[in-house]
Amino acid sequence: MDIRIAPSILAADFTRLGEQIRDADVAGAELIHIDVMDGRFVPNLTMGALVVEAARRSTAKLLDIHLMIVEPDHLIPSFAHAGGTPSRISVHWEACPNLNRTLRLIRDQGCGVGVALNPHTPALLLSEILHLVDAILVMTVNPGFGGQSFLDETLPKIAQLRRMISASGREIDLTVDGGVNVATIPAVVDAGANVLVVGSAVYSERFSVRAGLDAVRGAIKAHKAS
Ligand code: DX5
Ligand code: ZN
Repeated sequence: MDIRIAPSILAADFTRLGEQIRDADVAGAELIHIDVMDGRFVPNLTMGALVVEAARRSTAKLLDIHLMIVEPDHLIPSFAHAGGTPSRISVHWEACPNLNRTLRLIRDQGCGVGVALNPHTPALLLSEILHLVDAILVMTVNPGFGGQSFLDETLPKIAQLRRMISASGREIDLTVDGGVNVATIPAVVDAGANVLVVGSAVYSERFSVRAGLDAVRGAIKAHKAS
């Protein structure tokens, strides 16, 4: 299975965001991950559709918009139209009492459809909506901040979701988000993830974006060869 990398700009240097996004694009990132937080669903506040629009001016790659917000429905259109080109929008299962409707709303806006699960949320809760999504995002840390340690207890759930996806016969990306780095890559790849969100292992003051991405790709390659 092809593994794709989605650098999370949450860890980028915001004084030069455009450059940091272009660096990831040129260094071969397949998607650009944008963490939207509202200070309510998660204890942190980050960026809105304006930043998505700016990101779109810096790359033509798929923007992977991760909405960590309550009541996302009324904001989905503004994210969907930010920058003109369709993105993938993921909402959290925990934030959507009418999840079926919310997922259809994303689809109606012409975007890719994703659903995200917090670490404690069981995989089986997605069994009735698999036909509506293009991606499942498994939080492998508690959402809200970059740079946290990977939660090993999420690994069985990743494997279970991979089995559910295979059984569905649909092509659904299985994304992991949080604490993904060269040390945790073997376990998430073995569990069946095919999109890796990587924040602090790509964006750091200690190395270039290219060096970070190369290290991540090197870890994937070395693990596949082993
Ligand atoms: C956390 C975010 C993640 C985060 C990942 O709530 O959803 O996307 O930026 O950052 P790292 O890779 O540093 O854990
Ligand atoms: Zn994220």
